Amino acid sequence: MRKRFIVGNWKMNKNIAEAESFAKVFDAFSSKNKDIIDLGIAPSFLCLAPLAKISNNFKIIAQNVHYEEKGAYTGEISIPMLKEIGIDMALVGHSERRMYFSETNQTCNKKNKALLSNGMIPIYCVGENLEQYNRGESFDIIKKQIEEGLSNLLATDIEKMVIAYEPIWSIGTGINASAEIAEKMCFFIRNTIAKMYSEEVAQKVIIQYGGSVKPENVNSYLKTQNIDGVLVGGASLDVTTFINLIEKVIE
Ligand code: PGA
Repeated sequence: MRKRFIVGNWKMNKNIAEAESFAKVFDAFSSKNKDIIDLGIAPSFLCLAPLAKISNNFKIIAQNVHYEEKGAYTGEISIPMLKEIGIDMALVGHSERRMYFSETNQTCNKKNKALLSNGMIPIYCVGENLEQYNRGESFDIIKKQIEEGLSNLLATDIEKMVIAYEPIWSIGTGINASAEIAEKMCFFIRNTIAKMYSEEVAQKVIIQYGGSVKPENVNSYLKTQNIDGVLVGGASLDVTTFINLIEKVIE
């Protein structure tokens, strides 16, 4: 059985003091529930080290990473830098990075490879935009993102990965994809991985849905067969709301 995994992506929100006060409450909550669910927070780079010290019971996740170990890449953060502060997970290819910072399936592939070969876990984000959705291209776009982003990875690495299906038209818009659409796409992702690697490998991959997930709709996703968790933006910023969302899942 795949363990459920809920992650809050804070994007460019919260200073260190705000992040620390959230994390103290959240760690106490996580310690009571860690046997039944995996939890994580992806804060800004500045908050990674302080939060890594506070979080004993939930994962601290980088929102981005560079695939080179070091060098002339102004403004970037490397895998060894993350490892030094105890971080072993990173988001790759979030749609905002693809949209505003020109990330491609190819750069995501390099990041996925670099993370996995260094013993770290990527949460690889995929998703189509509204025009692509309306033109009926969702499956083609997702297939390409999966095939190119996961190309030439070891099967033993793929099975450790997390994939987040986040239709761009549902991120921050309040228009969440229905559980039926999300499950159909997550099933398609699992199937694409099965064709690339094997059914056994595909069955081990944790697949999340993301896009306007709220306490009111979270359970509809987690009752499906192929959605193992959620990636939550807006509803993860307030600790009471986020805990309430997780409680809906575990109650
Ligand atoms: P949202 O963001 O929950 O605010 O829609 C999700 C995400 O971008 O990961």
